[in-house]
Amino acid sequence: MGFKDKLKNALVGILTNEELSALPRGFQTIGDVAIIKLNSILLEKKNLIAEKYLELLPSINSVYLNSGRVKGQFRTPEKIEYLVGVENSVVKHKEHGVLYKFDFTKIMFSMGNLSERKFLATLVKDGETIVDMFAGIGYFSLPIAKHSKPKRIYSIELNPESFKYLTENIKLNHFEDIIMPINGDSKEEVIELSQSGVKADRVIMGVFPAPKDFIREALTLTKVEGTVYHYEGIVDKEKYLALFDEFKEIAETSDFKCDLLGKRFVKSYGPRLYHAVFDIKVYKK
Ligand SMILES: C[S@@+](CC[C@H](N)C(=O)[O-])C[C@H]1O[C@@H](n2cnc3c(N)ncnc32)[C@H](O)[C@@H]1O
Repeated sequence: MGFKDKLKNALVGILTNEELSALPRGFQTIGDVAIIKLNSILLEKKNLIAEKYLELLPSINSVYLNSGRVKGQFRTPEKIEYLVGVENSVVKHKEHGVLYKFDFTKIMFSMGNLSERKFLATLVKDGETIVDMFAGIGYFSLPIAKHSKPKRIYSIELNPESFKYLTENIKLNHFEDIIMPINGDSKEEVIELSQSGVKADRVIMGVFPAPKDFIREALTLTKVEGTVYHYEGIVDKEKYLALFDEFKEIAETSDFKCDLLGKRFVKSYGPRLYHAVFDIKVYKK
């Protein structure tokens, strides 16, 4: 029996038929917390419903309600509220052998990006120098350090709250010799890195909206042998190449040439919209 059916059974006689059929099919698990989304007709009974999650899921110790989106430059959750169980929003979440500690009411953690967090590490070759321009709490830097053998990862993060957990997570996972956290605006920090002689084999540009205004600065990290840029954004599936074209146009006017190595649709982002990633190899002309 699927989880929704179990939940329905547990709430028969408590919810109306209309409410029962509006129950959610799934939920997000972060550490030992279940984060649920509810149809507006269920909001009055949110605590009753949340109690049933606790009863049905032995490994879950608290239930929170997510009723907002991820917003703004720092990609923060709009509204995640405590419902039942232990009230503690700072979790240690394990994924692909990596521990991520963070406060999920203040910092996003998208389950839709799970495959990309895992996949990116498989592209990294031994000894690479990597710059993660929008590192967050280490979404990409940590699994790369865990599953590949890079020489150095420079992980830049602007939001002080995320940066605090980035530095903690580096220690928690024992990657102090590999990952160097940098608290600052990556638009400026990549120039500083480049001027101090750092050139990258790989540059990760993972933020929404697509960081078009950071491309010129990021290109200063390009190696003579070429550098792979992972450029993210939201695309209309019919016209998805527009995202690559925007990168290519800026690169070509800055005297670089681009080869498209690959592209992925990471998750759906709305009607016809997808979170996409382009792997672009860039060389000096
Ligand atoms: C939320 S992450 C997205 C990571 C990845 N796409 C994922 O979802 O797994 C993007 C991070 O970029 C940070 N950020 C935004 N603007 C920045 C800037 N100018 N310099 C450095 N970091 C920045 C945000 O604070 C946020 O932590």
